[in-house]
Amino acid sequence: MIPIARPLLGTEEENAVLRVLVSGQLAQGKHVTVFEQRFAEVCHVREAVAVSSGTAALHLALLAHDIGPGDEVITTAFSFAATANVILLVGATPVFVDIEPDTYTLDPSLVKAAITPRTKAIMPVHLYGNPCDMKRLEVLARAYGLVIIEDACQAHAAAIDGKPVGSFGTGCFSFYATKNMTTGEGGMVTTNDSDIAERVRLLRSHGQKERYHHVTLGYNLRMTEMQGALGLVQLEKLERFTEQRIANAAFLTERLSGSVQTPVSHPGYRHVYHQYTIRVPEHRDQWVTHLRARGIETAVHYPLPIHQQPFYRNQIGRFRCISAPERTNAEHTTGDIRLPVTELAAKQVLSLPVHPALSGEDLSTITREVRALCK
Ligand SMILES: Cc1ncc(COP(=O)(O)O)c(C=O)c1O
Repeated sequence: MIPIARPLLGTEEENAVLRVLVSGQLAQGKHVTVFEQRFAEVCHVREAVAVSSGTAALHLALLAHDIGPGDEVITTAFSFAATANVILLVGATPVFVDIEPDTYTLDPSLVKAAITPRTKAIMPVHLYGNPCDMKRLEVLARAYGLVIIEDACQAHAAAIDGKPVGSFGTGCFSFYATKNMTTGEGGMVTTNDSDIAERVRLLRSHGQKERYHHVTLGYNLRMTEMQGALGLVQLEKLERFTEQRIANAAFLTERLSGSVQTPVSHPGYRHVYHQYTIRVPEHRDQWVTHLRARGIETAVHYPLPIHQQPFYRNQIGRFRCISAPERTNAEHTTGDIRLPVTELAAKQVLSLPVHPALSGEDLSTITREVRALCK
């Protein structure tokens, strides 16, 4: 079976983790600190703060920006649930804006209509490794005094005109096992604002500035030394992994364009292909079954948008949805929750393997079988 994802771990990672185990210092220490410094350099930001997951990064970024009850955060429902869950967890209201039909990311032309006096932040998601239209979002954020919190959990080393994601606002990354680089579980907050970095540092460790001296209420969301050591090795390989993903995607696009809708990104945008996602207008389940029978694993990211998840369906009134009026012919109320572009994408998207462990033969098999299905 050609897997949809495979972490690439070698002897360097094994040795790095073993050295930590032998040293006996397992909790957050010097490996985590060096990993933070290197990650900040790669993202062109002044500070990076390591945490236990991408979810923790997003959660603490919201708290560090003082976002809480009464505040609204503009985001997308076409993402992993963590993106919106953290907004609810801090007591704020997610405002889901519909997506662009070609990039699947937040549609900037709809964001203005979503802004109210309660709006505190925009949380774009660089979905599949494809940067959102940050130029337009930055203009809006500046005009309305909004914070940008980037969900870059899928987008390590993605960039716009050479400027890395995670440097447009407060950046949040995940190092979950299937991500473009991994520490098993893990996350990072990136920022140029030393106050935000300091608040995240306090929040991740029970508000301790010094040991057993608690200046604020916080959590234990620290990263371990094993993860820090793993992250340092993976970070050194990230550029090579990314180049390979981009090359694999170029191969797939060359063979598949004209047959199916292949991924789109704006000119000057570096899409890092965490996922290579095509559109299958009809019979997607049959495609999944057919490809599996031919040894190709696929995945649907995401079969149910966040606003249609069972939990969210029971939370009417705790979130809002904004879509293009011409698509729904309706003024939205909290009882009328539609995101037509998002909902159609959820029915049609299909991710094919694109990870750097694929062989040339794997890539040829994928394109051959997908083309056969198009006939
Ligand atoms: C877009 C997005 N946001 C947030 C997360 C949460 O990251 P983690 O699983 O590390 O908590 C993920 C991870 O799957 C993600 O893909």
